[in-house]
Amino acid sequence: MHAIALYNSKGGVGKSTLTLFFADFLASLQVAGRPLRVLVIDLDAQGSSSTALLGAVVTQQARQASHTIGHLALQLAEGQQPTLEPFLLLRPQSPGGHPPLPTVAVLLPERESIFNFDANPLQSLTLLLRTLKPALARRFDVVLLDLPGGLDERHLLAINALVMSDSVVVPIEPTRLAIHALPETVRMIQYVQGIHGQGAPHFLGLILNRTDRRSRQFRLHVSGMVQHFQKSGTPCFDNFLPNAPELANATDDTLAVQSLRERYGGYYPHVKRVVKELFDRWQAIPTGQPTNP
Ligand SMILES: Nc1ncnc2c1ncn2[C@@H]1O[C@H](COP(=O)(O)OP(=O)(O)OP(=O)(O)O)[C@@H](O)[C@H]1O
Ligand SMILES: [Mg+2]
Repeated sequence: MHAIALYNSKGGVGKSTLTLFFADFLASLQVAGRPLRVLVIDLDAQGSSSTALLGAVVTQQARQASHTIGHLALQLAEGQQPTLEPFLLLRPQSPGGHPPLPTVAVLLPERESIFNFDANPLQSLTLLLRTLKPALARRFDVVLLDLPGGLDERHLLAINALVMSDSVVVPIEPTRLAIHALPETVRMIQYVQGIHGQGAPHFLGLILNRTDRRSRQFRLHVSGMVQHFQKSGTPCFDNFLPNAPELANATDDTLAVQSLRERYGGYYPHVKRVVKELFDRWQAIPTGQPTNP
């Protein structure tokens, strides 16, 4: 199993959108004669990627039944061995007419405020790494973690999730504001690597989103940014995702009706190239080597 976090402390850069596209695409791949088993863990209480994958009704019912990553973490912290199945919600199939959708499982988000701050069971920032990760490794090939923006050291559930990730990618838009916010993202990744202590999560690189090589913004910001980060050893993906106005609804619709491939056919070749590069980069991770963004 490989766990990949999509993280940028800047909001609205495409973490949830990329999570959806990666999940939908990876789940459609056959490896060794069977589909890749993909899980999305939504860590953002807004629930963009989970609601898009499951629909609002399923999401609401499951949250009312406390089937969230937060309640799972609480049980794990108490030393229980909870049955994971009720927490792992399957993307529903569309009601007739459409080809079967690639199967994606989803673990719902929780507000950090459910934890009592005086006796917070997540003080151990390696809880999910030690308890949840081995259980997921038996069930899934790829776990995608959709992180919220604006993280800091107080967000113990999200930090726990980053600590259990094998690698992290940083979606970013080629805007001045997004570039200025990058050092904070890099600082948080280094903080999490310090907790993990063995080089994880490995920093796979920046993924440029909403990017158009012909635009003024690209000329103004991207070449300089790529050079700057390459100099400091921060990798940037060669492939990027264009600005596609029709995608503005991707996280807002329910994706249980149609696959993203059907819905955004023209956009899919870009997704395919980025996922291929993602795959190559994670395969090339030197095992046991510390990495610094
Ligand atoms: N390549 C793109 N082209 C056009 N619109 C996009 C693209 N990528 C993302 N968007 C839109 O931009 C908005 C923000 O994207 P998204 O929700 O994925 O960002 P995020 O980083 O997850 O935000 P948050 O920090 O709030 O979780 C959404 O409305 C989304 O549909
Ligand atoms: Mg999001």
